Amino acid sequence: KLRNLPHRNRYTFDHILGTGRKLREAVDLAKRVARSEADVLLVGETGTGKELFAHAIHNESPRADGPFVRLNCAAIPRELAESELFGYEPGSFSGADRKGRIGKFEQAHGGTIFLDEIGELPLDIQAKLLRVLQEREVERLGGAGPRYVDFRLVAATNVDLKELVEAGRFRADLYFRLNRLLVYLPPLRDHPEDIPLYVDHFLETHFPFEGTGKRRVAREALEALQRYPWPGNVRELQNVVERAAWNAAGPVIEVRDLPVQLLTADLPEVPETDPPLLRQAVEEAEKRLIRRVLEITGGNKRRACELLGIHRATLYQKLARYGLG
Ligand SMILES: Nc1ncnc2c1ncn2[C@@H]1O[C@H](COP(=O)(O)OP(=O)(O)OP(=O)(O)O)[C@@H](O)[C@H]1O
Ligand SMILES: [Mg+2]
Repeated sequence: KLRNLPHRNRYTFDHILGTGRKLREAVDLAKRVARSEADVLLVGETGTGKELFAHAIHNESPRADGPFVRLNCAAIPRELAESELFGYEPGSFSGADRKGRIGKFEQAHGGTIFLDEIGELPLDIQAKLLRVLQEREVERLGGAGPRYVDFRLVAATNVDLKELVEAGRFRADLYFRLNRLLVYLPPLRDHPEDIPLYVDHFLETHFPFEGTGKRRVAREALEALQRYPWPGNVRELQNVVERAAWNAAGPVIEVRDLPVQLLTADLPEVPETDPPLLRQAVEEAEKRLIRRVLEITGGNKRRACELLGIHRATLYQKLARYGLG
């Protein structure tokens, strides 16, 4: 069995954490899909777990002992896409391997093919892909004829394929074929109640109870984590938590250990002044940050100075200047 391990981690549904309603809906649907033979499209922003779901679906399927073959459509040069997917016969083009080569679809025989970032597939290949999905046959470049292949497709995209169709960059017929069974992975901002769970998980798996003891997050810091909109979703959260854990002097992660964009993300943009007056813009930003930090510390000026990294006298000066005292 282990010989058949085609990827680093055998992610299963047990690795998909979260209790938010939208996330559970995605997991429940994906589990039902997994046990079937249906091709499936995973749609979600970057970092929402598309790769994780693709593995989990494969590992929960009747094909779990077969190969899991992955191809990132954004990472292959246009002119190689066709031979990567479908393979080629010996001598089919100059510079090709003498012996010919089997493509990803044939490699996935008896298992699952995962086409990541499917929106990036060149248009002419999209037409061929549609035919493969309908016929379950592939034809190698320069080939003698179609061969039957037993695969299940899991495709993923973080862009809206419908928009690509409208822009003429994605075939409508392929879009409808893929769209038949769609699993939507919600962005983290749609299940923020799961943030504490993810934080604990990342701290536990990457920073086990060594030396300083179990790491935890101060209440203010957790609030900042829950307020942030997480455009990079769970992956971004994981990066921030790991970095903060290294930054922290002790076992408790404080607001000062978090990247500054987390504290300022939901503040209104500093207005563009005309003509651009840097000093005014900087003061505006400084004023908002001080106000935010005082909110976070519940008005505690000593803590505010620590977080801002300034002296008490400087803080009082600024409070007076900005009329925040
Ligand atoms: N629900 C979840 N539970 C636990 N870990 C998760 C979850 N969702 C995502 N992750 C983790 O977040 C990271 C990013 O996930 P993944 O690579 O699957 O995202 P993706 O949707 O493929 O992103 P991209 O579009 O950028 O490729 C991984 O480390 C993954 O394990
Ligand atoms: Mg991915």
